Amino acid sequence: RKVLLLYSGGLDTSVMLKWIQDEYQAQVVALTVELGQPGEDYDEVTGKARTLGAVEAIVHDARQEFADEYLIPAIKANVNYGDGYPAFTSLGRPLIAKLACEYARRHGCDTIAHGCTGKGNDQVRIEATIATLAPELKVIAPVRSWAMGRDEEIAYAREHGIPVKNAPEGQPAPYSIDDNLWGRSSEGRWIEDLGHAPEDDVFQLVTRPEEAPDEPEIVTVTFEAGVPVALNGQRMEIVPLLEEAARLGCKHGVGILDHIEDRIVGLKVRDIYEVPAAAVILPAHKELERLVGTIHQNQFKPGLDQKWAYLVYAGLWWEPLRTDIQAYIEHVNLRVTGTIGMKLYKGSARVVTRESPNAVYDAQLATFSESGGLFAQDASPGFIELWSLQSRLAWRLANGKFDT
Ligand code: ARG
Ligand code: SIN
Repeated sequence: RKVLLLYSGGLDTSVMLKWIQDEYQAQVVALTVELGQPGEDYDEVTGKARTLGAVEAIVHDARQEFADEYLIPAIKANVNYGDGYPAFTSLGRPLIAKLACEYARRHGCDTIAHGCTGKGNDQVRIEATIATLAPELKVIAPVRSWAMGRDEEIAYAREHGIPVKNAPEGQPAPYSIDDNLWGRSSEGRWIEDLGHAPEDDVFQLVTRPEEAPDEPEIVTVTFEAGVPVALNGQRMEIVPLLEEAARLGCKHGVGILDHIEDRIVGLKVRDIYEVPAAAVILPAHKELERLVGTIHQNQFKPGLDQKWAYLVYAGLWWEPLRTDIQAYIEHVNLRVTGTIGMKLYKGSARVVTRESPNAVYDAQLATFSESGGLFAQDASPGFIELWSLQSRLAWRLANGKFDT
């Protein structure tokens, strides 16, 4: 038996690497997927996997594919689950699982193992992907089945010579973290106490707003057909552009979200998110999209965006409704070209300037000063009479005065 393990280098998947070899007499191929987790040392991760007996330790740099195939569609969809969660974990899991399927086949593995718990969303996203793309593969999720709590895991690790960092004796357990190019989440510890306000040490990415610079900074984001292509007029590839947006957001304390969330499996949980890149890019995109759309287009799309985000959150990336909705979203975004200025200041990111060749806007028409002359103001009274016709009829009916 040969198992492909989705390996992060953390405690759970390290214990798993050893445990699978012992429990199943299986060979383990460790796959680590790079999605732009800041500060990860991949040599250390693969070194650790080999030390723990992996027959193969692979790092796959998926940043470009993640940005092109997952994050750009998400930006076009103004991705938002619940109230402001830009779904970075949700977007990463189908790609991680797809790569797991590809590597499992290539290395002759019959099983994929992952480190998700039985209470979370990630198990659903990963296993739904495997069941769809590689139904011949089996799945094992040891954290779901083994009877080890955190302390037993640490004991198992110590017993088997697995290095345990971040868990010195007597210290609180670390937060449960997930991160990539598009954001970072923290769960566990005091976060589970809804009455407990965020402690400073949870913010490892974004500067706390009270410590952010006293001077605001304006950053312009340029889009072409819905894709961010430049910051402050400087053209950049998507990965460095998102990294730079994140850097600016972090500097100004932008993108902190304390979120109560409805998980797929029914639980309500709290997450602390740091989403600096999304907090700069998404409001800019949304503003530009509204500027180039008519009132009818602008009223219609948020419903589709919401459905799109829900399908992605809920682990149904491969569901055809997602790609159907995507087709509409792509078409809308063909005209989303222009530049939005965002003012970043102590935790806020606010739109301050807009510019687009496709804006459904005519300063001559909109002006308050009389000079324009293109808009026939004397047509307005007739418009108002007809516009209010049904409302007036209904009002009279309800007030029993339909007898003029
Ligand atoms: N609640 C978020 C989501 O479901 C973040 C999950 C973080 N996952 C993790 N394994 N720490 O998308
Ligand atoms: C987990 O339980 O594996 C992490 C949390 C989640 O999947 O939502």
